[in-house]
Amino acid sequence: MPRRRIDGGATQSSGRGANVVTVFVERQWSTVGHIMIEPPLSIESLQAHAASELNQWTGSVARWSAVAPGRVNVIGEHTDYNGGWVLPMAIDRYTVLAAAPGLQADRIRVRSLSLGEQSAVSLSRLSDLSDDQWMRYLQGVLAEYAHRAVVCPPLDIVVASSVPVGGGLSSSAALELAMAHLIEAVTETTWSPSERIRAAVSAERDGAGVPCGIMDQTIVEQGEQGCVLLLDCAQDLISSTIPCDDPQIAWLVIHSGVSHDLADGAYAQRRAECERICEALQVGSLRDVTPEMITTLTPALPTEPPAPSPEPRPEPPPEPSPAQSSTPLPLPGSLDEVLLRRARHVVTENQRVLAATEALKTGNWSILGDLLHESHHSLRDDYQVSCEELDILVELAQAQDDVFGARMTGGGFGGCIVALVNREALSSVATSISEGYAQQVGLSPKCYRVKPASGADICAVSL
Ligand code: GLA
Repeated sequence: MPRRRIDGGATQSSGRGANVVTVFVERQWSTVGHIMIEPPLSIESLQAHAASELNQWTGSVARWSAVAPGRVNVIGEHTDYNGGWVLPMAIDRYTVLAAAPGLQADRIRVRSLSLGEQSAVSLSRLSDLSDDQWMRYLQGVLAEYAHRAVVCPPLDIVVASSVPVGGGLSSSAALELAMAHLIEAVTETTWSPSERIRAAVSAERDGAGVPCGIMDQTIVEQGEQGCVLLLDCAQDLISSTIPCDDPQIAWLVIHSGVSHDLADGAYAQRRAECERICEALQVGSLRDVTPEMITTLTPALPTEPPAPSPEPRPEPPPEPSPAQSSTPLPLPGSLDEVLLRRARHVVTENQRVLAATEALKTGNWSILGDLLHESHHSLRDDYQVSCEELDILVELAQAQDDVFGARMTGGGFGGCIVALVNREALSSVATSISEGYAQQVGLSPKCYRVKPASGADICAVSL
């Protein structure tokens, strides 16, 4: 398994995850008992907090501000970098930046309130990666703008955020896109959404070393209030915008308290496995693989998962090049089954996303719920990116009459689950799942009711 931890420490420190931090505070996780659904904080209150901290820190009044939401992926996991479909929504949890002209020449100084940390980078040496992982996301975006001659003056910035950290809810993409909008506000520049998304994806890939897809940055930039978006990752476009405001349902996100840490290599390894499958099948992407091809290739593939292999897996023997191999599959050795499982997940997940889109459009919650649960099993057994704590949460949720379905969400190896819940029963469902989790795992999970929200933007500042 990749490195993961249930953090009971009182000290905050930054981690190396794709989603900024793997930081929890003791009071949040070590106690079992009081269960509540975390209320959302308004953008205005986050902005006021950031501006007031900026003033206390530097004496300056905030002159610019920008905001970006987190995201929850409803379904379509590990399909984006395979040219597939995803169905995410931006959520009403936000990262807000407040900034003033910098007091130190050549410096971008940043204070993060949720991390309790401060960092700085030199504007003349933006390519020197900061030791602070979270700072690299900001630095990466600054560098992308600077490459195209959009150069920020020195700034002092405070970050206030209600995006849960270490939870697979794209706190890093929120930081990147808020920074992109802030740079544009400061420099009076306007880039298109796709230019911002490209800059943020590059910042994530270069800064965190995670070869991520485009889902997180796209939805964080382009989310729409009250809507879930179907993204076609083969073409980098929004294929459909689906209103999701039925008062009968609610989206419940539950944080396992286990950090996810995609930079440890398992994410890159999955991506490399998918590339090897494409080479072997001589297709451009797994989007081109049909369910029939998978059935033909996997007549004897059991539905039970093989024993999890240690991470990182040793390098496999080199694959024959397509030119050397006229019948590319089956591949030799035990790796066959692993690769076939990976392919089966991606191909079936794409089908589930399209089916889920229809279910969402027609308000067929029980079908949507079943698809969420199937997705979880596929991620657990075939793609092997879940973990024991997420599995426990999902099964506890599935056992509730008022839950239509649940699955892990995001890159995996920890973080959050998302459950589609009968709204009237939201509170009792959250309580039952939390109590069950506390009994089995010894932790009180954090519960969030999330609503689909708008994407990143500049915030007006009252001077
Ligand atoms: C992370 C990546 C995304 C996507 C998900 C898994 O969040 O940043 O691009 O691959 O994992 O679906």
